[in-house]
Amino acid sequence: QDNITILGLESSCDDTAAAVLRQTGDGPAEILASIVKGQNDLHAAFGGVVPEIAARAHAEKLDICVEDALKESGIALSDIDAIAVTAGPGLIGGVMSGVMCAKGLAAGLGVPLIGVNHLAGHALTTRLTDQVAYPYLMLLVSGGHCQFLIVRGSDDFTRLGGTIDDAPGEAFDKTARLLGLPQPGGPSVEKAAKSGDPKRFTFPRPLMDRPGCDLSFSGLKTALLRARDALVSEQGGLSEQDRNDLCASFQAAVVDVLGKKTARAIVSYLEEAPAVPLLAVAGGVAANSAIRANLESVCASNGLAFTAPPLSLCTDNAAMIAYAGIERYKAGQRDDMRLAARPRWPL
Ligand code: KG4
Ligand code: ZN
Repeated sequence: QDNITILGLESSCDDTAAAVLRQTGDGPAEILASIVKGQNDLHAAFGGVVPEIAARAHAEKLDICVEDALKESGIALSDIDAIAVTAGPGLIGGVMSGVMCAKGLAAGLGVPLIGVNHLAGHALTTRLTDQVAYPYLMLLVSGGHCQFLIVRGSDDFTRLGGTIDDAPGEAFDKTARLLGLPQPGGPSVEKAAKSGDPKRFTFPRPLMDRPGCDLSFSGLKTALLRARDALVSEQGGLSEQDRNDLCASFQAAVVDVLGKKTARAIVSYLEEAPAVPLLAVAGGVAANSAIRANLESVCASNGLAFTAPPLSLCTDNAAMIAYAGIERYKAGQRDDMRLAARPRWPL
């Protein structure tokens, strides 16, 4: 079969998503519809994602997302050739909701079921958007993950290093919470940082001098907390300028650490002598323009091309799961009713 129309489902964190993609022959895969329904409003009062609430919301919204995706794509359910679903890693209740929904659809339609690793979905996004060749270097930076990967194939990844504690998105979210800025923290901290002085506070750059590509972000969060408390006890509160300066100084530290470790990862990657050296970034934090700009310059000075998916494909979505599903389908992967939801699933 040359052409494939695939339905993808994603429900591993706090976004419920469904997408329909079609690939004709070996041509580029086309996104016919990509529906994402967030849950920020449901979790806002709790200052973070509540797994039980997330799982219930996924169970409620999956059907609607599938229906919307089919409607928008103009594809009938009977024309779907395969179902791809995030089978982990993630919050188990949400992943289970997606896997159950996918099993039901695959069994009902009599089409193949393909379990996809959420991280592989992020890592392969750049092949969906830019048809880049293997092997490429990937920096995956999201709310739950931070790692450097050499991507050699749809099921062939080498992990060069990653965070030993918090993910950078988590650090952005915590920073926002400590400063009373809205969630998700990334965009609000980035916005505040634009009017702030990145040099006012000197925040730590953890593991900077340690060899390898591992990173750490939890100390940064603690340093920010101390700086905030010092200001509050001195002045009785925070001014808007204080907030902006704290955000700018925090972001500068993240930019620095990611840039330095990326330079290290590039050295290991170039040992593979790739024909077209390329760094791709993915995950929600890749939406940050200061981080992107610095990574671009690190790449430029090392002779690498740089690519980042458009914002809507950086954050969680089902188009990336459907695309990874196409690659896995073509590689012969077929799952059955025993497909398990996996809370942990390293690449
Ligand atoms: O990839 P994603 O949608 O979800 C997973 O974690 O899998 O990433 C969400 C994370 C959140 O922590 C959010 O604060 C962060 O990405 N984020 C950003 C920006 N936009 C989203 N972090 C920094 N700057 C941004 N502009
Ligand atoms: Zn993600």
